[in-house]
Amino acid sequence: AQHFFYQNDTLTVDGVPLDKLAMQYGTPLYVYSKAALTEHFRQYADVCKQFETDDIHSLVCYSVKSNSNLAILNILGREGAGFDIVSGGELLRVIAAGCDSRKVIFSGVGKTASEIRLALEHDILCFNVESFAELRRINRIAAEMGKKARVSFRVNPNVDPKTHPYISTGLKENKFGIPYEEALAGYEEAARMPHIEVTGIDCHIGSQLLDDAPLLEALDKLIDLFDQLAQKGIELKHIDIGGGIGITYDNEIPVAISDYLTRIFGKITTWKNAKYPGQSISMMFEPGRSISGNAGLLLTQVQYLKTNSDKNFAIVDAAMNDLMRPSLYESWHTVLPVVKRQTETKTYDIVGPICESGDWLARQRTLSIETDDLLAIMSAGAYGMAMSSNYNTRGRAAEILIDDKKAYLIRKRERPEELYALETIIS
Ligand code: LLP
Repeated sequence: AQHFFYQNDTLTVDGVPLDKLAMQYGTPLYVYSKAALTEHFRQYADVCKQFETDDIHSLVCYSVKSNSNLAILNILGREGAGFDIVSGGELLRVIAAGCDSRKVIFSGVGKTASEIRLALEHDILCFNVESFAELRRINRIAAEMGKKARVSFRVNPNVDPKTHPYISTGLKENKFGIPYEEALAGYEEAARMPHIEVTGIDCHIGSQLLDDAPLLEALDKLIDLFDQLAQKGIELKHIDIGGGIGITYDNEIPVAISDYLTRIFGKITTWKNAKYPGQSISMMFEPGRSISGNAGLLLTQVQYLKTNSDKNFAIVDAAMNDLMRPSLYESWHTVLPVVKRQTETKTYDIVGPICESGDWLARQRTLSIETDDLLAIMSAGAYGMAMSSNYNTRGRAAEILIDDKKAYLIRKRERPEELYALETIIS
């Protein structure tokens, strides 16, 4: 369904007009649709349910880093989501959101000793181990705590996800994961460690993938390793293919989630039934962007219009600290006027007030706008607020969630005093 649409020339989120929200809560403002969020999650969950059998199970672990607001985690938790985290902080968020830490998987190349301890205290489902040094550290800490840590190896399948180099992670030269060729020996070492329980295998090859062919190729490689391990007597219980399915920002057409999952489960079912009848296997996924990305927008107000030589600028009150994807990756976000005008259009660069030339949100957009107009920066639900900063002592934007035509403030706007509250002057 459409969640961001015009009613009488005014842009709404599920029928709630954005100009009203701007008036009540101010700008810049992140606005999310609960209906969109759950709809995207169910695109995963429904296919998983369809392929569920006595011995094929699954868990969709929402990637917390894409949007970690407690309200959002709570909604997804109630939908049955597990969570993919990359820090102790994200684990505490999942718990604070009232979700189950035993459905958490912990990825990331740099887990500290205290993060590992915290995760073991909360009995997380699995560590996605990214190096042998990390494996040994987990074993040592689990020993100190008298526990056994469940682990999966994040292997690097060396497939090209054909996406932006900054968000492609499954190639040999990336810092992520354990080289495919070393995984077998590593698993044998892990299997001998007294405080490690080897439970799975995982990968994550990149983000904003439009085609699922690289993911299916990666799955083949995981299955191949699974078989080699089985021959050595190491029986894995789960396969985690990571996240990475892309969304439409402009006119990209990403693979439909249901088609992707149907192909994944098709492969898994055939393979498992042929080789491991009766053995229980769980499929796991770590989607972030495809759940949260097109569930939110960033609402901003035009402060000034100006022309430098031949270039028109719309200076808005949101900036790279609110949404850094354009500055960082030159990402495209569609910009829509909140209230449509019939007046003459011009081509603008939409820029923020921060003192950096890189502070732009969109370039060369043809719009009909006036000072004080509201603009919606679309597809900003993932890696928007989550990557925001306080640069230029700008408080982070407030966040609103629309549920059943009602607006809920799910994060207050940060006040300047809060930004320097942790600082101390020395005498
Ligand atoms: N699992 C792992 C281990 C990951 O590193 C990531 C994302 C995900 C899952 C979720 O991937 P997704 O389904 O969202 O593609 N800041 C960048 C994206 C960085 C992605 C980092 N890893 C952006 O704004 O495009």
